[in-house]
Amino acid sequence: MSEDVREVDQDRPSAPAEQASAWISKAAVLFRCRIPIDAILLGVLAMVAAAALAMGYNATAEDIAKRKAEDLMASLVQVIPSSVHDNELLADRRHVVDRVVYRAKAGPIVTAAAYEVTVNGYAGPIRILMGVTAKGEILGVRVLSHSETPGLGDKIEVAKNDWVRSFERLSLVNTSTEQWAVKKDGGRFDQFSGATITPRAVVKAVKAGLDFFDTYRFAIVRDGGEVKE
Ligand SMILES: Cc1cc2nc3c(=O)[nH]c(=O)nc-3n(C[C@H](O)[C@H](O)[C@H](O)COP(=O)(O)O)c2cc1C
Repeated sequence: MSEDVREVDQDRPSAPAEQASAWISKAAVLFRCRIPIDAILLGVLAMVAAAALAMGYNATAEDIAKRKAEDLMASLVQVIPSSVHDNELLADRRHVVDRVVYRAKAGPIVTAAAYEVTVNGYAGPIRILMGVTAKGEILGVRVLSHSETPGLGDKIEVAKNDWVRSFERLSLVNTSTEQWAVKKDGGRFDQFSGATITPRAVVKAVKAGLDFFDTYRFAIVRDGGEVKE
């Protein structure tokens, strides 16, 4: 009996230790299992999030591209009147050197072209779209975007001022190099009161646009492939 008691007594202290060790090993196994489960969950979540982002991006990118095309078309019709063409302006475009040129056609004949010119104004880049006849005469000029100061440089916007219309019908033939400047610099274009830098930049850009057309006229109006130099 006393031996039994002794046996039990000897076993008793080891029971909690064994239990603890069993728990520890169970926890260790569970912990080891959780790492891959967590990793898999995380991976699945990341994939779901990436798929959602990609779907959102695709939907937005389509919308943005559509909106951009509409904006561009709205500007194109302002620099190339419908009376000079019967084609889809956005469809007939080609790369000439560093820019995209939209061509207006009456039947097979190229009657006009429109393209962008960019210049640094007072506060940042000014993007301009200009339309030119096949002979190099300006049909229209519109500012697509700018960061000029409201009330000063923003008079280049046709919605705020008619100034940008002063380029219409001008060409390198009927306007001399000296005349392509603001009046303050001896040219023919008005400057704005308290804001000479912006109109000066736009005049320079439009003149550069005419020089571009003059240099690449053949590449722009002829039929054939893209022209890159
Ligand atoms: C806050 C601020 C904003 C200005 N924004 C323009 C601007 O958008 N376009 C511009 O041509 N000049 C702007 N100016 C004024 C130019 O400094 C201005 O063209 C110049 O004072 C007059 O140039 P000028 O001496 O060549 O006539 C701004 C000036 C200040 C102080």
